[in-house]
Amino acid sequence: MAIERTFSIVKPDAVAKNLIGAIYNRFENAGLKIIASKMVHLSREQAEGFYAEHKERPFFGALVDFMTSGPIMVQVLEGENAVLANREIMGATNPAEAARGTIRSDFANSIDENAVHGSDAVASAEREIAYFFTAEELCPRTR
Ligand code: PPS
Repeated sequence: MAIERTFSIVKPDAVAKNLIGAIYNRFENAGLKIIASKMVHLSREQAEGFYAEHKERPFFGALVDFMTSGPIMVQVLEGENAVLANREIMGATNPAEAARGTIRSDFANSIDENAVHGSDAVASAEREIAYFFTAEELCPRTR
């Protein structure tokens, strides 16, 4: 089993509903270790940069509005197959299609306000981690 790192966001809807702890519990219960974490309130420039691959999509403006509407938690998760493990506990992008018991099924409002983000591959995780954290801010677990 590969030990991987993935990048995760608790989005403004979930922060506003006081769900940070509940969502962090899901990570830890799945065996994912939080090795860096901070609260940030994105500027429009930061949000547009983070979601640049989606800039031609019809929902891009609404996505940037939403992601800048309040503070978010950004975190790095480490564990066996962390990218896929996190995607599994998040559930599908659209909470109406997310499996029961997943974070999005239990906590998300809609496809536009869907509680969490998680990297979709190891390469995107590396890029997304570097967007928010310096190497010195990561605290790999030794036990
Ligand atoms: S999709 O639908 O499979 O193409 O979605 P994906 O490429 O994984 O990511 C799209 C990101 O935009 C957010 N978003 C929406 N997606 C689809 N439709 C609508 N209306 C929409 N609104 C917002 C979606 O949550 C993905 O963001 P992240 O942060 O990765 O979850």
